[in-house]
Amino acid sequence: MTNVTRNQKALKIKAPIVEALKQAYENPTYQFHIPGHTKGNGVLPDFKKLIGTKALSIDTTDEFDNLGTLHPATGPIKEAQELAAKAFGAKKTFFLLNGSTAGNLAIAMGLTKKGQRVLTNRNCHRSILTGLIISGAEPVWLVPKRFDDWGIWGNVTPESVEEALSTHDDISMVWITNPTYEGVVSDIKSISAICKRYKVPLIVDEAHACLWNFNKHLPTPALQLGADAVVHSLHKTGGSMSQSSMLHIAENSCLDVDAVEKALKLLHTTSPSLILLASLDAARANLESPRGKKQLERAIANAKYLRREIEQMEHIHDLKPDFGYMTDVTKVFIRADGLSGKRLESILEIEFGIEVESASDAGLLLLSNLGNTRKDMEYLVESLKKIDKSNYSDICYLENKKHMPMLTPIIKMSLREAFYSEKETIPKDLAVGRISAEVIAECPPGIAVLLPGELITEAHLPYLTDYNFIEVIK
Ligand SMILES: Cc1ncc(COP(=O)(O)O)c(C=O)c1O
Repeated sequence: MTNVTRNQKALKIKAPIVEALKQAYENPTYQFHIPGHTKGNGVLPDFKKLIGTKALSIDTTDEFDNLGTLHPATGPIKEAQELAAKAFGAKKTFFLLNGSTAGNLAIAMGLTKKGQRVLTNRNCHRSILTGLIISGAEPVWLVPKRFDDWGIWGNVTPESVEEALSTHDDISMVWITNPTYEGVVSDIKSISAICKRYKVPLIVDEAHACLWNFNKHLPTPALQLGADAVVHSLHKTGGSMSQSSMLHIAENSCLDVDAVEKALKLLHTTSPSLILLASLDAARANLESPRGKKQLERAIANAKYLRREIEQMEHIHDLKPDFGYMTDVTKVFIRADGLSGKRLESILEIEFGIEVESASDAGLLLLSNLGNTRKDMEYLVESLKKIDKSNYSDICYLENKKHMPMLTPIIKMSLREAFYSEKETIPKDLAVGRISAEVIAECPPGIAVLLPGELITEAHLPYLTDYNFIEVIK
């Protein structure tokens, strides 16, 4: 072997689950165990054709083929989690199979208790709220600024965290979403310093920011800024398959890792999909590889190109970091004069075959992804240019429907108490003045319109147009 090939071998980035799954595929056994489709023989032929025999052959769970186990982590799965921890700068990384949702649930279930108070932003994801319903801890709301022109929430300020911690001496955890869905970034470094002064752990829901660790032109990840734990939806932007995420515990954190692990074990399926686990392993390996780094550079360059082109347009605008906060450049939130975000979305979809990440009353979100080519971006730019020069009318405004919840809650009962109270289902028209008994937080963005225990007011109605009935406290 020459020195060059030896060096290339040494540089090869390890992906232990991918490797183990490959071995299992290449050395098939007679299978008398789950999954019962047995390497695809027992599935609908049309489905087999669609997904491919190979994918079905490696559809297995963690009990077989020397692939290791998830709980407790053993073999290649343990090794892959350790490699991920190293890549993200964590003391411990858990692979998650029900998305970051599972990570948030495990944090709430493992680390908070009935009656404890958790400081969190109102625009948090519903999984945090579900976690608090399970544990019985109560949210203390931080209500970030709203950017009304854009119809979105702004960042969480360190001052608001300091104020809340100084007024409530019973807060046991601070839990911040960063960035927002639209890419608005909070000052986690200062928030973390405040949390340390008040001796409360800081959890950061970084579901939308797993790429930050891999390029210095993106904001600094929370694990480097003093957060105790972070969730990452690798499946959203990191290149793994849908549903697969990671939960990281920081090096110097005093969080009870064992309690988090025990909660995860209870929350997770007992038949973890090796395909999903391998996709997490592969995504981490890809992001660490020169190829993955190039893909990320391209995603950033594409986003910058898109933003430069939008600058030249007359009626289409992109959200820029000009309100004194940072943004993640790869999340391009745009709005068009005279068109709702929903209308713009439908024009892009119906007339140009373009699907966007999400749309609201005001605008829509485009993600410049690892997998997008410059050609994709050029097509998007050309399409937006055509829209910019056309005279589309805004039929969506006629629906009188709102999408991005921007409400300040009126709390009448505790979250868990309300969730487990006696309820009744009533027509929506009769719901104003009653107390909600259900979580209403449609995805995307999964931000709460109403939570159990909150007063239903006229302001909620434009967000409830798809609901005929509402569950309220009896
Ligand atoms: C801020 C935030 N946290 C957590 C989640 C849950 O992530 P997942 O879909 O990976 O379960 C989402 C999903 O949209 C989110 O936006």
